[in-house]
Amino acid sequence: MLLQKYPKEVKQILAKYPPEHKRSAVMPLLYLAQREEGYITKAAMQDIAQLLDISETDVASIVGFYTLYHDKKEGKYRMQVCTDLPCALRGAEEFLNNLCGNLGIKVGETTPDGLITLEAVTCLAACDRAPVFQTQGPDGIKYHENMTVDKTMELIEALKKSTGEAK
Ligand code: FES
Repeated sequence: MLLQKYPKEVKQILAKYPPEHKRSAVMPLLYLAQREEGYITKAAMQDIAQLLDISETDVASIVGFYTLYHDKKEGKYRMQVCTDLPCALRGAEEFLNNLCGNLGIKVGETTPDGLITLEAVTCLAACDRAPVFQTQGPDGIKYHENMTVDKTMELIEALKKSTGEAK
């Protein structure tokens, strides 16, 4: 249960909203639930629904709507590359294709070591600094702008080392 696991954090989040608007706490609670496993379990969705007096369907629809939330386990880090038109014009597609080649996976797949799930997303509000991507992982969300494939592979090596997955 989320409340048992993170009592202080849950109380802090709920304290920010008046009781009649407590459903607004759904986003930060989902973020909290996702922090540990990198995705939101069905049990966590049930917890949140109960805490906020809303239906599980409401919670699930929010998880489904936002690219920041995930309902299944994938890589420890999600690498989300913007491929919207302005970025595509600055080489985002080629960047993503080359990255796929280097990692030996397709968009949407996870590296065999479970470290990286590669995704294509829409605008990350850094259109003039493409290729750009965000990583979502145990250390939160980080933006990486004006990237090259080489710099990205270095970043992945650093993530491997920091998570003890370097071979
Ligand atoms: S279109 Fe890629 S960041 Fe805006």
